[in-house]
Amino acid sequence: MSRAVVLFIILASLTASVIAEVHVISVGQDNKNQFVPNTVNAAKGDVVAFNFVGGQHDVVQASSYGNCSKMANGFESGLNPSSNWYNYTVDKSSGRIWFFCNVFIHCKNFNMTGGIIITSNAPAAHLDDSRVLFKPKNSRDEFFVYADPDMVQQWRKDKTVPLVNVVQCFEIFETYNGGKDGIIGHPSKQKLENAFGTSDNQEVIQQIIQEGVVHNAHKGHERPTLKDHKAVMNESRGRGATTN
Ligand SMILES: *[C@@H]1O[C@H](CO)[C@@H](O)[C@H](O)[C@H]1NC(C)=O
Ligand SMILES: *[C@@H]1O[C@H](CO)[C@@H](O)[C@H](O)[C@H]1NC(C)=O
Ligand SMILES: *[C@@H]1O[C@H](CO)[C@@H](O)[C@H](O)[C@H]1NC(C)=O
Ligand SMILES: *[C@@H]1O[C@H](CO)[C@@H](O)[C@H](O)[C@H]1NC(C)=O
Repeated sequence: MSRAVVLFIILASLTASVIAEVHVISVGQDNKNQFVPNTVNAAKGDVVAFNFVGGQHDVVQASSYGNCSKMANGFESGLNPSSNWYNYTVDKSSGRIWFFCNVFIHCKNFNMTGGIIITSNAPAAHLDDSRVLFKPKNSRDEFFVYADPDMVQQWRKDKTVPLVNVVQCFEIFETYNGGKDGIIGHPSKQKLENAFGTSDNQEVIQQIIQEGVVHNAHKGHERPTLKDHKAVMNESRGRGATTN
């Protein structure tokens, strides 16, 4: 086989392995002014499928979290799209995309807003296993966030460094069984309340970064398997798990 043919086969198989995922968000679920879930993790090329299930709504892109004004050149579904679906394909490879319902006072008065956290196509490969670990006193629980060790040091000195530049993803994890079997997941709100006095993700992440112990990648930690990452990237569990 010629080198070009081999290269073609390698490239073709690489492309085939990146499969776009569909992330469904219910708009107006239970006839309430809400997006469920209001936050999803999605990679470039993935589809965020807004399913209009109740009430009168639309989905409009905003420039920042909680902003109730349409962003210039942002996307817009129109009122209750005829098929009951508005499917948005993620066209960026990093950052955040914010949206809201632009009908009546749904955004201003009911906080009908949400966001897309753009992740890599290959979470396990992308998430460098550098963590900040936090063990509450008198507890067997262990919580951590994936973060950039250098940025952690910068943030500790200068709190104006944006948190999104410090963490690799805006989520809190816990290890089960003292971390012995390498299984990780998302802690419940109750567990966070008990350990941190709050279940607000942003506040908990700040406490972990401030007080936790930094573990660099490839030191003392096995990289979690892709299966673990699929589990922790479970959106229905990670719901509400953001927003800066
Ligand atoms: C809200 O979004 C509009 C439109 O993109 C922008 O002009 C405005 O500055 C934003 N407001 C805030 C507080 O970010
Ligand atoms: C949008 O995506 C959903 C879920 O995959 C699918 O059922 C629906 O047919 C799609 N609608 C359009 C208009 O593409
Ligand atoms: C919307 O958010 C504001 C500010 O966080 C809060 O005061 C208010 O209670 C929220 N409203 C609803 C309906 O959740
Ligand atoms: C995600 O979490 C929910 C609730 O814990 C569970 O019912 C569902 O099976 C999980 N999905 C995956 C793909 O793990």
